[in-house]
This record gives sequence, C-alpha cells and structure tokens, in this order.
Amino acid sequence: MFDFKFDWDKSVEIGVPEIDSQHQELFRIGREVNYMLLINFNNITEDQLLTIVGELRNYITYHFYYEEAFMNEINYPNFLAHKNSHQNFKNKVNALDCDNLRSSFKILKELLVTWVFEHVLVEDYNLKAFINT
Ligand SMILES: [Fe+2]
Ligand SMILES: [Fe+2]
Repeated sequence: MFDFKFDWDKSVEIGVPEIDSQHQELFRIGREVNYMLLINFNNITEDQLLTIVGELRNYITYHFYYEEAFMNEINYPNFLAHKNSHQNFKNKVNALDCDNLRSSFKILKELLVTWVFEHVLVEDYNLKAFINT
C-alpha cells in the first residue's frame, strides 16, 4: 500500500461545512495513527494508543449519525447502501483487538486509507454532485 499521509486538501470538500470539518477530524486521527507507526511507537504508552482508538470510535458514531440524518433530510437516493457502508466500517473499527494495540494500529492504518479512498472520496463525494443538481 502506498504511503498516504492523510493531509487535508480542499479538493476533498463536499461543500457541507459541518460534514467537511468532521472529515477533517477523520484525517487528523489518520495522521495520528500514521505518526505512531512512523515513530515505531517510541515512548508511546498503551493508554495513548487506546485514546486514539477511542477517539475514532466516538468520531465515527457521531459523524455517521450526522451524515445519515443529513442524507435522510435531503432524500438522498443511495441512503441505505451508504448507511450499510458506515455500519461495515464501524464493525471493523469495533473489532480491533485492543489487547494487541501495536498490531491493531497497522490494521487500523490500512482500514483508514481504504476508507478514505473507497468511501470519503467516492461515496461521500457523490453527495456533492447530488446537492448541486
Ligand atoms: Fe459516509
Ligand atoms: Fe463521511
């Protein structure tokens, strides 16, 4: 997998400020995960790793709730499929083994990169076209 660094770029924006800032938060967490791997967890405690996993779990619960409510409100046509994608990702994040956080972080980075490229930049980005029609 190529080395994606989760740098935020304006071209990723959908045009719904609240959703865009929530996506920025996902990228921020992605950068944290990336950093931990980059420094090889040097001087990092298990607690710090667990905090990041906790932040991500909270973030997706909040963000998915918000995004789904927004889609519902605008009668978004692919709502159910989109909701399913969210649930699948949520299941994967919740299934991370917190007893082996260092190996879980490698899995987590891959999960996040795939999520950005297959969901945020494609499925979420489709919202932009729908809003602008
Ligand atoms: Fe989404
Ligand atoms: Fe999203």
